[in-house]
Amino acid sequence: MIHAAGLTKSFDTKGGETVHAVRGIDLDVPRGEAFGFLGPNGAGKSSTMRMIACVSPRTDGELSILGMDPNTQGIAIRDRLGVVPQQDNLDEELTVRENLYVYARYFGFSKTYCWAKADELLEFAQLTEKANAKVTALSGGMKRRLTIARSLVNDPELLLLDEPTTGLDPQARHVLWDRLFRLKQAGVTLVLTTHYMDEAEQLCDRLVVMDGGQIVAEGSPAQLIARYSTREVVELRFVPGTQHAAEPVASKLVDRLEVLPDRLLLYTQDGDDTLEQAHAAGIEPVASLVRRSTLEDVFLRLTGRSLVD
Ligand SMILES: Nc1ncnc2c1ncn2[C@@H]1O[C@H](COP(=O)(O)OP(=O)(O)OP(=O)(O)O)[C@@H](O)[C@H]1O
Ligand SMILES: [Mg+2]
Repeated sequence: MIHAAGLTKSFDTKGGETVHAVRGIDLDVPRGEAFGFLGPNGAGKSSTMRMIACVSPRTDGELSILGMDPNTQGIAIRDRLGVVPQQDNLDEELTVRENLYVYARYFGFSKTYCWAKADELLEFAQLTEKANAKVTALSGGMKRRLTIARSLVNDPELLLLDEPTTGLDPQARHVLWDRLFRLKQAGVTLVLTTHYMDEAEQLCDRLVVMDGGQIVAEGSPAQLIARYSTREVVELRFVPGTQHAAEPVASKLVDRLEVLPDRLLLYTQDGDDTLEQAHAAGIEPVASLVRRSTLEDVFLRLTGRSLVD
């Protein structure tokens, strides 16, 4: 569905500087996959998505979407894509139902078809009760569901979602994840960006970790965790600033230790055993926790930084 090699995007700013947003990335996404770009602010996720969505020309490299070149066949590609941009761009003057209808009309479908499609998508997005409400009256989660519904009017084969759930509360996120999961079950290829590791773990078959415009790792969530982290992590919490005193002792217990402002993270295959050893060595945290490694630990290992700032 997507093939990219050496894909590059640079911006020339007014000040005469060049911003290298995407620095030569390679990727291939097969049909039916749920593929993710995980990375912090400024990693180049949106710049990549906009090139794939054929709304931003590439600076360099190869890019083919559905076997076509966005530079010459952008219209034909966009006909078969659904795009959910990072910022909702719904028509606030129109009702919820009209937003879907008007958008569907752009694709040249008949009026009857467009009203029927609007109603079908309202049902899918659980917005039927809000059909005649103005967009301004919707919650953030509802607006996001409407934007996703709108991206589906042309029954896309490939759905691009730029941070589908950023800024939403946990419940709203779960409703969205459920809808996206259904689309995946129906065979739609999903490509999404996120800086939430739990979202990436929930939705993505495979993902790339992006940082500073480059891909720093690629694999399934489980593969990435196995490759770049240990099975378990012991979190020792301290009054901020006092964690450094325990650092020399803790570092002798494990191969890898991360020092965060209020915590030490001890990477280990057996968390309970390591925690016991920490207590035996005289370390006295205010709280402790044994948990599984996550993509956050992978990101920390790869970049030395946290995903969410
Ligand atoms: N139109 C533009 N002109 C100049 N610089 C830009 C432009 N768009 C993006 N950039 C820069 O390119 C880099 C990558 O931005 P991009 O929006 O792709 O990151 P992102 O991973 O989507 O970040 P976020 O998580 O904040 O959405 C940033 O340094 C950004 O400031
Ligand atoms: Mg972005």
